[in-house]
Amino acid sequence: MSLFGPNSQSLQQRARKVIPLGVNSNFRYWGEGITPYVERGKGAYLWDVDGKRYIDYRMAFGPIILGHAYDEVDAQVVEELKKGLLFAMTGELEVALVELIVDLCPGVEMVRLACSGTEATMHAIRVARAYTGREVILKFEGNYHGMHDHALWSTYAPIESYGNRRSPIPVPASSGIPRNLRDMIITLPFNDVEGFERVMKSFGDQIAAVITEPCQGNCGAIDAQPGFLDLIRQRTEEHGIVFILDEVKTGFRIANGGAQEVHKIVPDMATYAKAMGNGYPIAAFGGKAEIMSIVGKGVSQGGTYTNNKPGVAAAYATLNLLREKPILKTIAQRGERLMDGLRDILTENSIPFVMSGYPAMFSFALGVESVACQRDWSASDQEFYLKLTEMAIERGVMPDHDAREPWFLCYSHSDADIDETLNVYADIVKKAK
Ligand SMILES: Cc1ncc(COP(=O)(O)O)c(C=O)c1O
Repeated sequence: MSLFGPNSQSLQQRARKVIPLGVNSNFRYWGEGITPYVERGKGAYLWDVDGKRYIDYRMAFGPIILGHAYDEVDAQVVEELKKGLLFAMTGELEVALVELIVDLCPGVEMVRLACSGTEATMHAIRVARAYTGREVILKFEGNYHGMHDHALWSTYAPIESYGNRRSPIPVPASSGIPRNLRDMIITLPFNDVEGFERVMKSFGDQIAAVITEPCQGNCGAIDAQPGFLDLIRQRTEEHGIVFILDEVKTGFRIANGGAQEVHKIVPDMATYAKAMGNGYPIAAFGGKAEIMSIVGKGVSQGGTYTNNKPGVAAAYATLNLLREKPILKTIAQRGERLMDGLRDILTENSIPFVMSGYPAMFSFALGVESVACQRDWSASDQEFYLKLTEMAIERGVMPDHDAREPWFLCYSHSDADIDETLNVYADIVKKAK
């Protein structure tokens, strides 16, 4: 089956000759003849290279929080670019941006900027190791913290390879990751209170950092069960472990203060990227001043582009807009309507499902009654989910092809877009069943 038109097909063929798989990120490859190639976007819509319009619920995997080609952000970027792009010097705008982040994010007292979520988590982990003088990192199965070797473990592997849940096997998500790094990783199923308590008791004093997403934004938006994040906070404090909350997907999306504000949790460090700059390349990691102030004192962090003007200007414009207007509240209201509508459609068609995540970033797993971790999620009916997704795409509504990836909303999604999406799903769910 070919999901996209002839221009997409021929561009894929052309790209394949010079770019592995014809895409510049493995996650953008959906398969032969079914990989989308984009021409442009505006607001909540994108147009593929065949000129077909879609209501976009991928939002570039989350960064687009206001809308594609958002005029107010782009205008500020252009204005700043006229003054020069890059100087290897610090300017006032980036200081003002970091002041804004510190103001908005509850537990963040000091920040360093970066260019991507990968860079932010990589640096946060290094700082945590340096601060504690320990090397072991605990992460949860199904969480994704970027492409660096220190965290690309137990993210996408077949669930059978993870071993027994009482003694999970950390599985690298790529060839090329040094085997020795396994000694520095402990993995656990998300929400596994018993396992977490056991690891804390046995190894708590050897662990440098516990890193987690607040909800599994790279695995069906599985929610942290009540008390789980609090338990992590409590035990990490008792054992002198740095608690890193990875807010790359949730930050500046689910609330101005991210998951820290929503769950009233204060980690030691937090990482940001994505929605922070409405799509421009900008990221940040920060946390308690006591921890962050070791950066530069025997702890390395840097990068030629870490204060790149387009990213800094876009983030300054985006965060000011979030602060001035009820943008995230509006997105949440529309997201709730979409979640409610999808719940009704699935219920009317007697399809078991679990809906999870936040209104600005949610998922639904089909054919299951409860999901607490990736092991549970892997039993969901991904084939049926994919069938619905492909039917939706044919009708001009585009969630991600991969069921693990949440639906993302932006400020430009209108009530009419939500209505159109629900009409499409009401129709296709009935047909597909
Ligand atoms: C929670 C989380 N952390 C880190 C990353 C890595 O961010 P980037 O793709 O900007 O390197 C991602 C990317 O999806 C993410 O979702």
